[in-house]
Amino acid sequence: MPLKCFEVIILLFDMKKVNHGKTASRYLLLTLVFLLTFSNFSPVKAQDADPKKGKELFNSLCAACHKRYKKATGPALFGVTERHDTEWIYSWVKNSSALIASGDAEAVAIYEEYNKTPMNAFPQLSNKDIDDILAYVNEPKATKATLPGPVGGGKEVNGASSSMSQDIVLGLLAVVLAILVGILFLLNRSLKRFAEKSGVEVKSSCDASSCRPLWKAFVENQFLLLVSAVLFLLLSAYLAYGYLMQVGVNQGYEPVQPIHYSHRIHAGDNKIDCKYCHSSARVSKHSGIPSLNVCMNCHKSIGEVAEDTQAKGLAEYGVDYNKEIGKLYKAVGWDPNTQSYTGKTDPVKWIRIHNLPDFAYFNHSQHVQVAGVACQKCHGPVEEMEVMYQHAPLTMGWCINCHRETNVKMEGSEYYDNIHKELSKKYGVSKLTAAQMGGLECGKCHY
Ligand code: HEC
Ligand code: HEC
Ligand code: HEC
Ligand code: HEC
Ligand code: HEC
Ligand code: HEC
Repeated sequence: MPLKCFEVIILLFDMKKVNHGKTASRYLLLTLVFLLTFSNFSPVKAQDADPKKGKELFNSLCAACHKRYKKATGPALFGVTERHDTEWIYSWVKNSSALIASGDAEAVAIYEEYNKTPMNAFPQLSNKDIDDILAYVNEPKATKATLPGPVGGGKEVNGASSSMSQDIVLGLLAVVLAILVGILFLLNRSLKRFAEKSGVEVKSSCDASSCRPLWKAFVENQFLLLVSAVLFLLLSAYLAYGYLMQVGVNQGYEPVQPIHYSHRIHAGDNKIDCKYCHSSARVSKHSGIPSLNVCMNCHKSIGEVAEDTQAKGLAEYGVDYNKEIGKLYKAVGWDPNTQSYTGKTDPVKWIRIHNLPDFAYFNHSQHVQVAGVACQKCHGPVEEMEVMYQHAPLTMGWCINCHRETNVKMEGSEYYDNIHKELSKKYGVSKLTAAQMGGLECGKCHY
């Protein structure tokens, strides 16, 4: 990239042909070039490789033997692109035995290092698939950074996505600058033509008397001024709006919890009812996180997970489940050897994931118990989540959309019978949405 920019700069100063109005446009172009240099903006990158797709492929094909950051049956794949060039990796993944058989030194060396454990061949993968996988394995290990604010928890900051949005912003700025440069050139040309028509000689270079500063022309030309002002305002509004709409939206937030607790294993594999643990969802505003005593109802007798569960945890998620149960024991002060409580406790500080701002009112029992909305409708496929994350955006628009779409369960409720009759007459429909019941009134959700 820096090399390319350097070339562009040289090119700019070489542009002898465009010799009028040059200074201003040149500066603009230079700014543009610098913007490009200092962002790592590159228009190809965004569509290049898709780590999400890569993750799926990795989990289904590679995770049995590879982890990203730790050695398993095969090497840790993080940073593999620094150890080998991409073409080599393509041939290796598609058919490693063929590569070893060909006598390729790198291939033989790694094969020897891993005691000649053969790796499966994946001829079905395209180069693009492998790029996706590489993009996924090369994601830097998520680290915990603390978010300020009442949550008091940590937020995994995904560097990739924030630098992506920065790229987009800088890209847009660059486009605007490019447009401005274009306008300047056009203006310059028409000025020149106009001058020629009126018989004024146009000098190819500026001297103090003949050269009208470009900004002056700009200011005098009302139309151009207007166009650029409008463009500028539109762009800033767009950027500001985009930025503000992201403030406070934590969709996808997936913090690392003090104990690796898997909903997949508990709610999925073992089919434990959500409300066994989140019992207050039924009766109160909050669902709440179960106290560790609830865990101990089972875990007094479950000190270790099944062997295949443990193997899967190690291979696919890089988690030692038995160690995690050990953390639970430490927290409640349970000694599995003597099967008794030691009295030394160290409460687990679960990091809160879902969190509406204080000015919004949300009630679980109203939705779960009265409306009969499934937990998954708002929290996603929890029974498949190895690590809990925020599935829904939890924005006002999200609440309201659902209120517009969801019919209220009226059957079997005397209270609703009367209201139903009145309101359905009012709206002329037989089913009522939560919105028609008043679910769009500000006061229902805002104190
Ligand atoms: C059956 C186990 C197994 C599976 C499945 C597997 N690998 Fe491997 N892989 C290995 C082993 C073992 C090695 C070390 C070399 C050897 O012994 O063949 C290796 C080496 C590699 C290397 C070279 C790493 C280095 O640091 O030199 C790459 C790249 C690689 N694998 C990618 C993949 C990808 C991508 C997938 C999924 C599409 C995959 N592997 C699936 C076992 C496996
Ligand atoms: C065995 C107990 C248990 C069961 C069963 C269980 N959970 Fe949980 N749940 C927890 C614990 C412990 C946490 C806190 C740790 C975490 O976030 O992973 C939690 C966290 C959550 C959170 C995130 C809370 C936050 O901080 O915002 C949601 C949402 C949730 N559970 C939904 C469900 C749903 C839906 C089900 C049923 C499909 C379910 N849970 C079943 C124990 C349980
Ligand atoms: C209804 C019984 C039950 C309750 C309640 C329960 N567990 Fe478990 N838990 C299990 C079973 C069964 C396994 C092992 C699954 C296996 O071997 O495949 C397990 C496994 C685990 C594991 C290892 C796998 C993983 O999720 O990382 C941890 C840690 C764990 N439980 C923590 C907890 C915590 C914390 C609570 C309370 C919030 C809790 N459990 C409540 C039944 C329960
Ligand atoms: C209509 C959408 C919706 C449904 C249905 C729903 N939740 Fe929630 N859940 C939320 C919202 C919104 C929050 C954030 C609440 C807050 O911050 O006050 C939340 C928060 C939570 C929390 C974090 C602790 C808390 O109470 O704030 C848990 C745990 C939870 N939900 C579990 C469940 C379970 C279990 C079910 C099913 C029995 C369920 N939820 C059904 C929307 C929903
Ligand atoms: C999955 C759909 C769904 C989502 C998402 C949802 N709601 Fe609801 N909500 C309903 C339904 C259905 C009712 C009607 C319940 C009833 O029968 O009274 C309702 C009712 C309500 C009511 C009571 C309205 C009244 O007329 O008394 C409030 C308040 C409310 N929701 C707040 C929220 C907030 C705040 C959010 C977002 C954080 C939200 N809801 C998200 C489906 C949803
Ligand atoms: C169904 C519930 C619901 C209703 C009805 C509702 N709001 Fe909200 N509103 C919310 C939630 C939830 C948030 C928090 C969203 C977030 O954090 O992004 C919010 C946020 C806001 C904000 C803060 C700005 C923002 O987007 O974060 C304002 C202002 C607001 N609402 C005004 C209103 C007004 C005015 C009305 C009536 C026309 C209204 N709301 C009706 C749920 C509702």
